[in-house]
Amino acid sequence: MQFKTRYTGLIDRYRDFLPITDSTPIVSLGEGNTPLIKLNNIVKDLNTACEIYVKYEGLNPTGSFKDRGMTMAVTKAFEAGSKAIICASTGNTSAAAAAYAARAGIKAFVLIPEGKIAMGKLAQAMMHGAMIMQIKGNFDDGMQLVKEIGEKAPVDIVNSINPYRIQGQKTIAFEIVEELGQAPDYHALPVGNAGNITAHWIGYSEAANKNTKSCALCKDDGGCTYHGTPLVSGRPKMLGYQAAGAAPFMRGGPVANPETVATAIRIGNPQSWDFALAAKEESGGWIDECTDAEILAAQKMLAEREGVFCEPASATSLAGVIKDIKAGKLKEGKIVCTLTGHGLKDPDIAIQQSSTDPLTIPAEFNAVQDAILSNL
Ligand code: F0G
Repeated sequence: MQFKTRYTGLIDRYRDFLPITDSTPIVSLGEGNTPLIKLNNIVKDLNTACEIYVKYEGLNPTGSFKDRGMTMAVTKAFEAGSKAIICASTGNTSAAAAAYAARAGIKAFVLIPEGKIAMGKLAQAMMHGAMIMQIKGNFDDGMQLVKEIGEKAPVDIVNSINPYRIQGQKTIAFEIVEELGQAPDYHALPVGNAGNITAHWIGYSEAANKNTKSCALCKDDGGCTYHGTPLVSGRPKMLGYQAAGAAPFMRGGPVANPETVATAIRIGNPQSWDFALAAKEESGGWIDECTDAEILAAQKMLAEREGVFCEPASATSLAGVIKDIKAGKLKEGKIVCTLTGHGLKDPDIAIQQSSTDPLTIPAEFNAVQDAILSNL
């Protein structure tokens, strides 16, 4: 047997691909290195020739992909001597910001839409000691405020308009190509503020040493200028899926009052609009929408048929893929779906839609035995 080297987080793992130096003080909780799980039962149920994998980002330290971006954003803020960070959030960014700020010993300020974030996420931000401002408005209102405050107050913005967030998040693509030994044919993910689709595309582009206009750090020559040795030759088609009540890309512009059960992507005015469109166009992919019913059905299917528990927004990636398989748009090939956050984030929705209610019985042998025999 060989001992494994201790995994110390994605900055350490991918330091040659990230904007850091040897003296950068890394703020990490061991994020990244998440499982890529091949779906068996759902693929059988769908009777498809496609191979479907899910990248289970819910297994990051705070339970979502935001940790990949936050380790970079907080590391760079800390390196620059910043004492405080701020973000607007539908929940997960606030949880990650709060945790990484705690780790760095700096202050986190978070703006969340009152009553519209899942309980688990609120508990995290509170527990990590963030200063929480519940606004009487939605995520887009919060984002606007944060951009204005960021210009005046001594705080670093850690939303995905911070290019370091995107740099950290691009590492998901590196992990996937390393594990598959190639790029998948398609990569599906939920789209809210559109930072993550941008980050995925940059990661895949760098892995293949190809230019992309999605990279904000390489504005000078209009494309990402990564010049390393390519890990793989191809790039996937990027498939972005939005919730139907919050689908500005489908409406061709901002949506004033976004609404969806998938509160994480209840966003009407995505900040990375142009970068996301570049990802779609350069990759030859598409953006589409799923209804809340389709999203919840996919969430339940993953939990019941594969043992994978993700939050509603995360299931939008699989919901979209299922829809496109049924429509004959996806016929074969390797498809990776990002499952962006853990199901435990949103226990209320999970309990509301689960098929089995707990049975209350006497604490007696016969009662347990009867329950088993009548439910086998
Ligand atoms: N899935 C989950 C679970 C999310 O929390 C988010 C975004 C997305 C998907 C969409 O990613 O914004 O990069 O397109 N959540 C942000 C937040 C907005 O505040 O936690 P995106």
